[in-house]
Amino acid sequence: MDRKKILVTGGAGFIGGNFVQYMVNKYPQYDIYNLDVLTYAGDLTKHRNIEKKENYHFIKADIINREEIIPLFENEKFDYVAHFAAESHVDRSIKEPEIFVQTNVLGTQVLLDAVKQTGVTKFVHVSTDEVYGELDFDPTTFFTEDTPLQPNSPYSASKASSDFLVRAYHETYGLPVNITRCSNNYGPFHFPEKLIPLTISRVLNEEKVPVYGNGKNIRDWLHVLDHCAAIDLVLQEGVNGEVYNVGGHNERTNLEVVKTIISTLGKSEELIEFVTDRLGHDKRYAIDPTKLERLGWKPTYTFETGIAQTIQWYLDNKWWWEQIISGEYKNYFNKQYSLK
Ligand code: NAD
Ligand code: DAU
Repeated sequence: MDRKKILVTGGAGFIGGNFVQYMVNKYPQYDIYNLDVLTYAGDLTKHRNIEKKENYHFIKADIINREEIIPLFENEKFDYVAHFAAESHVDRSIKEPEIFVQTNVLGTQVLLDAVKQTGVTKFVHVSTDEVYGELDFDPTTFFTEDTPLQPNSPYSASKASSDFLVRAYHETYGLPVNITRCSNNYGPFHFPEKLIPLTISRVLNEEKVPVYGNGKNIRDWLHVLDHCAAIDLVLQEGVNGEVYNVGGHNERTNLEVVKTIISTLGKSEELIEFVTDRLGHDKRYAIDPTKLERLGWKPTYTFETGIAQTIQWYLDNKWWWEQIISGEYKNYFNKQYSLK
């Protein structure tokens, strides 16, 4: 069988990392290349279990570095690219927007140029529902693929800009691309600066959980493995040039999410601390996934089954998040790779 080469950018991060594991295990006949520069969010300890597998390869590289990326594409001749690499945390983008423009916009453009020069069967750009801006609290309204882009944070503005570049490279040069726009993910290996892993780790350590504003903002939660299955499907079946929304109709207020975690762990709601609201805090996100469902995707987790699995994972894998919080994970690359 043809040994396909699949490049995953940002495969040391949360979703890209889960996707790498998913693909390495599902397709032993394909070579999976994890390309990541290892920012604070990049962690290779999560791949301890697969790093010796023949079909897993790690490339330490920066997507912004044209001199490195174009020759890499020329040499490797990848068949598929799933592009996850990004700066992803809204709060960081509010404090320091510049790196978001560099990585998310310019980095994506470098990858598009590499694809234009060398050709691939498919380039999937993993984007976010945040590019659509916010919805109000009317539960009958949803983001569709036709909703105009109205990003509100520097993060979502940088993602929307990259979406436009991906679209333009399809329209202008005919690149075989798809854009996916997923709602909030949660699950194993989620970096503990984001709401769900932050809450689980803080509650387990009996520390206060900061809830922004009044806690009534709504997010639409999807288990990361359902997102991975969606990307796999779009890579193989997506119609060139199309956008696909990804979401499973799991809207919860932030307060509901935090209270669910606290009660599952049998702790007190006194751990909740209401703090100053996020600047420009989007009220509500909610995805209409009909178009992707027509392509053959459907989620396997409800919020109830997914959050229970996730909480249990954090209980069983303290080794992972404790070394993330302590910063010890940053030494892993030197120990395992560069000093070999
Ligand atoms: P993450 O922050 O956990 O991981 C990002 C990864 O990208 C890290 O491993 C980091 O080292 C790498 N990276 C950053 N800059 C790089 C560069 N210049 N070159 C190479 N690698 C670089 O992010 P995540 O939460 O896993 O999100 C992955 C993608 O999915 C992002 O594009 C994000 O916009 C999108 N997304 C995330 C969510 C979510 O809920 N987390 C939802 C929808 C879409
Ligand atoms: O919707 C998809 C997006 O989801 C992705 O594109 C982003 O990369 C990802 O980070 C996520 O963005 P959010 O801003 O929605 O996720 P975060 O976990 O940071 O926050 C979720 C909600 O919880 C949000 O309304 C802010 C609130 N929050 C967050 C933190 C970290 C709190 O109340 N307290 C907190 O400490």
